[in-house]
Amino acid sequence: MIQALIFAAALSTAPAFVIEHPSATHPGEEAVAAYAQGPANAGAGPFQGDAMWTAFHRQAGVGRVVDELVDLSLADPKISDIFTSHDMERLRRTLKEQFCYLLNGGCDYSGRDMKAAHKDLGLQTTDFNLLVEHLQTAMDHEKIGFRAQNRFLARLAPMQRMTVER
Ligand code: HEM
Repeated sequence: MIQALIFAAALSTAPAFVIEHPSATHPGEEAVAAYAQGPANAGAGPFQGDAMWTAFHRQAGVGRVVDELVDLSLADPKISDIFTSHDMERLRRTLKEQFCYLLNGGCDYSGRDMKAAHKDLGLQTTDFNLLVEHLQTAMDHEKIGFRAQNRFLARLAPMQRMTVER
């Protein structure tokens, strides 16, 4: 019994090496191949303090921004096909986790790393720029300040080379 507890405690403190099928814990989502989870998968580290989290209006604000970002992308004929046949339920959840993690809102990011998540999509720089435009629109509608928007976009910018092929 004591050994089992020690083992469980050791597992819970080693997030970088936990391998699980997210579909097991998120029944509404499609199964994905097993992968190693960890904060490095988020593609960047979090901001310090709570200024950015507050500027984005915390969990509710991030939820609205991500949902509008996904809705605008799905409604945009220039990029909507890229999302077809992918699990939008999972994308909304993992994007909310990732944004919350980056904004230092206290979330763990449980998704795949940026390179693995986008490797078969054949993304181009124009696709990336359109996604960023939709994110800006969503942040404007959420009335997020200009400076906070720019700080967040700068944190995402290096992910262009992790997601785009050319
Ligand atoms: C800073 C840029 C980007 C970030 C932060 C980002 C973030 C994410 C995240 C967190 C996931 C989910 C990973 C997982 O399921 O484990 C994902 C998957 C996905 N992303 Fe992105 N992404 C970016 C750029 C793009 C662009 C430019 C497009 C297309 C225009 C795109 C389309 C997709 C699609 C279709 C999936 C689902 C892939 C699948 O289900 O296999 N992403 N992205």
